[in-house]
Amino acid sequence: MKDGANFSVNPTRDDGSPTRRDVLAAGLGGLGLAAFGLGGLVSKQLFPQPLVYELPASAPPDASLAPTPACVERPATDRTEEGPFYAPNTPLKKDFRRQGHRGRELVLRGRVLDVRCRPISGAVIDLWQTDENALYDNVDYGYRGHQLTGPGGEFEVSTIFPKGYVLFGFARSPHIHVKVQGARTKLLTTQIFFPEDAKSHANDPTFNPRLVVDLGETASGLPVATFDFVLEDA
Ligand SMILES: [Fe+2]
Repeated sequence: MKDGANFSVNPTRDDGSPTRRDVLAAGLGGLGLAAFGLGGLVSKQLFPQPLVYELPASAPPDASLAPTPACVERPATDRTEEGPFYAPNTPLKKDFRRQGHRGRELVLRGRVLDVRCRPISGAVIDLWQTDENALYDNVDYGYRGHQLTGPGGEFEVSTIFPKGYVLFGFARSPHIHVKVQGARTKLLTTQIFFPEDAKSHANDPTFNPRLVVDLGETASGLPVATFDFVLEDA
């Protein structure tokens, strides 16, 4: 997928074949195949283009919404590599947790805004991450799915902390991949990181300190990661 293209929740291939492939994208530690550029090639082979989300027709025009209070104009969120494990046609869901998982639970929440701090409702936010064994699941959409943001641009996912891995010889700090697009914005493809993994950030060529979540916790001690995505106008 090229940034700037639209998404479709239920894409159709030109050849009419199913978009879902039974491919387990297991951790590829130590393969040392090539740099991340090869990842894009692998992704295209597994999930042919175009991977396009259709935004819901009912999405209200976010341009009419007032700026978020106490928010100032801000730059768009930085982009990063898509990586080789993206899958199209993900389910709509808020709870990524696999039954019986052995990971450390996490709530990820935030907002989708435009550069003038206006919340973007009805935006598609598509997330994918590794599980507690550092594996991506392309069979059952484990730890991947999409949501539509609420009236204030908000989203929330119940998940677990992702695990880092080694890909093509590069150490990857724990991260969550994200694609976000509003009705009138460009597509953002990026990754978010965690402050507690500072030791591994230095070894990760994809790491960007501007993409680190704020980490707090609920009254009951459940970790809560917060990140706002800021999208460029289309
Ligand atoms: Fe990744």
